[in-house]
Amino acid sequence: MLKESWSLVEEHQDKVAGYFYARIFLSHPDLRDLFPVHMDVQRARLLNAIVTAVQTLEDPEKFDDYLRALGRDHRKFHVEPAHYEVVGGALIEAMRQFAGEQWGVEYDQAWADAYAVIAAKMLAGAEADTNPPYWYAEVTAHERRATDIAVFTVMPLQPLEYRAGQYLSLECPRFQPRLWRTYSPANAPRRDNTLEFHVRAVGAGWVSSALVRRLEVGDMIRLAAPMGSMNLDRRSTRDAVFVAGGTGLAPVKSLLEELTRYNRTRWVHVFFGARTREDLYDLAELNRLAARYPWLSVVTACSEDPTFPGEQGNISDVVARYGPWNEHDFFVSGSGKMVKATLRTLAELQVPSVRIKYDSFSD
Ligand SMILES: Cc1cc2nc3c(=O)[nH]c(=O)nc-3n(C[C@H](O)[C@H](O)[C@H](O)COP(=O)(O)OP(=O)(O)OC[C@H]3O[C@@H](n4cnc5c(N)ncnc54)[C@H](O)[C@@H]3O)c2cc1C
Ligand code: HEM
Repeated sequence: MLKESWSLVEEHQDKVAGYFYARIFLSHPDLRDLFPVHMDVQRARLLNAIVTAVQTLEDPEKFDDYLRALGRDHRKFHVEPAHYEVVGGALIEAMRQFAGEQWGVEYDQAWADAYAVIAAKMLAGAEADTNPPYWYAEVTAHERRATDIAVFTVMPLQPLEYRAGQYLSLECPRFQPRLWRTYSPANAPRRDNTLEFHVRAVGAGWVSSALVRRLEVGDMIRLAAPMGSMNLDRRSTRDAVFVAGGTGLAPVKSLLEELTRYNRTRWVHVFFGARTREDLYDLAELNRLAARYPWLSVVTACSEDPTFPGEQGNISDVVARYGPWNEHDFFVSGSGKMVKATLRTLAELQVPSVRIKYDSFSD
């Protein structure tokens, strides 16, 4: 019934989104402050998120962990329990408005029921969390490493726990208030609490270009909700292969740093690819690690730099030139396209999917 009713309004999605937000902001003007300044940036983000959640989480029990985490994470948006009813009501109103005569009361009920179950799980997650909703962190170093790439370090004002290989959401209130994006720390948790980030400014990207081109030492950013499961299994005795595209190197470096603390027995191979040599922005540091740790080897590749002295081609193809890889643990991270291509290569090489962990940088 949920899918059937959504199909009545699907082709008017933009209008439904416009009505949905107008409804919320007219009845509760204070809620406008929770959302980004330019709503056109991600016009239908929340609406799409809710509709997708309601339609795909047919059995919310199965998604309990995800929904609890989503509820915890919503505290960074300053969402309060009372807001759930307002948003749920606006959603149903907006759909009813554009569905025409085919809309029926049974649809109202189906959406209200599904939304209520999901909202209850999110609220329970938020309530149970003892962490702060976000952490302020001061930028202590900022370095441009390539035209589009910056490496910067931040110092959270309170301790922030995460595991090597996880990512966090980040907001840059000075330049892009209320726009949160996820970035992966490039270091394992340290005693001094600092985190290093590697960011590439994408095309017309709002947050990434501010982080690369405008962020300065002394600026405050906010961090929230460590997430993700691209972690090391300390019990594994298999050798490991890391495949990174561009700033996909960040979580790989975090995992490498963790390995430097305990690994003695596993061979570790890093494949680092980018379009041009300029984009291999952290190669000097990788080479330094490889010189220091005998178990580590690094292969680099460029796909659009014919005179580059390393490997030529996409990193996903380069991995296949080495091997055999059927006894290794794999970690893959980079753009959506790069991750997809690498997973395809690994499938062709018959690497079992249970041995592959990956983070794709696309939404
Ligand atoms: C789990 C995870 C971890 C991530 N870790 C990192 C990291 O460590 N370092 C890092 O640099 N990025 C990382 N990202 C990507 C990051 O979260 C943002 O998506 C990226 O910085 C773009 O945000 P933006 O606000 O600048 O662009 P937006 O304003 O969201 O997008 C602007 C335009 O750029 C397009 N676009 C968005 N992303 C890309 C892209 N990757 N390539 C090409 N076009 C794009 C959009 O389609 C849109 O048209 C990670 C993403 C995920 C999901
Ligand atoms: C069933 C209930 C809900 C679901 C499933 C849901 C889901 C989501 C998801 C998946 C995102 C994207 C996450 C991200 O970009 O980090 C999001 C963003 C957001 N949500 Fe929710 N949400 C719900 C209810 C609410 C409520 C009640 C509010 C309060 C007003 C709210 C406010 C926001 C805001 C402000 C954003 C960021 C929007 C943006 O960047 O444009 N959400 N939501």
